[in-house]
Amino acid sequence: MIKRPKIAIVGAGGNVGAAVAQWAVQKELGDLVLIDIKAGPAEGRALDLTQCGPWEGFNNTGFVATDKSEAMAGCDVVVMTAGVPRKPGQTREELININAGIVKGICGDVKKHAPDAVLIVVSNPLDAMVFVAKQVTGFPRERVIGSAGVLDSARFRTYLAMAAGVSVEDVQAMVLGAHTDKDMVPIVSNAMIGNVPVARFLSPEKLTEVIESTKKGGATLTGLIGTSAWQAPGAGTALMVEAIVRNQGRVVPCTVELHGEFGVTGAFAGVPVKLSAKGAERTFEIELSASEKEAFAKAVAANTELMNIAKGFLS
Ligand code: LAC
Repeated sequence: MIKRPKIAIVGAGGNVGAAVAQWAVQKELGDLVLIDIKAGPAEGRALDLTQCGPWEGFNNTGFVATDKSEAMAGCDVVVMTAGVPRKPGQTREELININAGIVKGICGDVKKHAPDAVLIVVSNPLDAMVFVAKQVTGFPRERVIGSAGVLDSARFRTYLAMAAGVSVEDVQAMVLGAHTDKDMVPIVSNAMIGNVPVARFLSPEKLTEVIESTKKGGATLTGLIGTSAWQAPGAGTALMVEAIVRNQGRVVPCTVELHGEFGVTGAFAGVPVKLSAKGAERTFEIELSASEKEAFAKAVAANTELMNIAKGFLS
């Protein structure tokens, strides 16, 4: 029998989890297991999405909605969005004291009930939460992947396209390093628009503005909406799920444990990754400019500092 992919979303009652579910349903990625600490919101999200079916035409998704973590048994992919979102004026780093415990508990459930799954972590502070997930599950690094580079790169590409007045589809650019306002590293040195270097389109001053807008992209939205964004985080995460369940080999930045990439071992940061059925099948290094190298090193140092704080929640 051909098996349909089974995808659990933990924290599905929240906005980001629900957005991942929405994009996953639209792409008909497989059967969805919506898990939340409260059964009601999980059931409500599932029912709401099911009722999109008559107009949107998707009829190919099975839903389970529950507060029981054992429902993730047999899942190919588990997406972890649980935890509190940031409020206006708050940094992602400030969430560590609440979210580390939540993520730790759920990762224990993942290890127990879905030991073969690829785990995608979305909870913040992202890079430190990927570390917690890796420590608690003991999964190989290929199967513990942080979703943030896809989002930050989408924001970078969007701001570049807006500044240059071009189609965003033709903008190739990525963000590496940390998923924090302070330490994310938008890579300008190899950013292209239709294979033409971005410097042909934008002055150094404009590029600096784009970099700054990208770095505070999440904070801008949090200020405007009153809570953390969910559509683009959900879309980026669903793209990662799709790359895995359809074995696509997409190459996008994701946070993983570094095994020598960019000269770093043991820390967690965003680097270019090939996503396939194996998870983060391969990582890549690229040439960085001197200032990007320095910024990447700062990102690794900041992530390591947060990792050390997170260690306090692991004992
Ligand atoms: C953001 C949150 C999801 O950047 O980290 O919007």
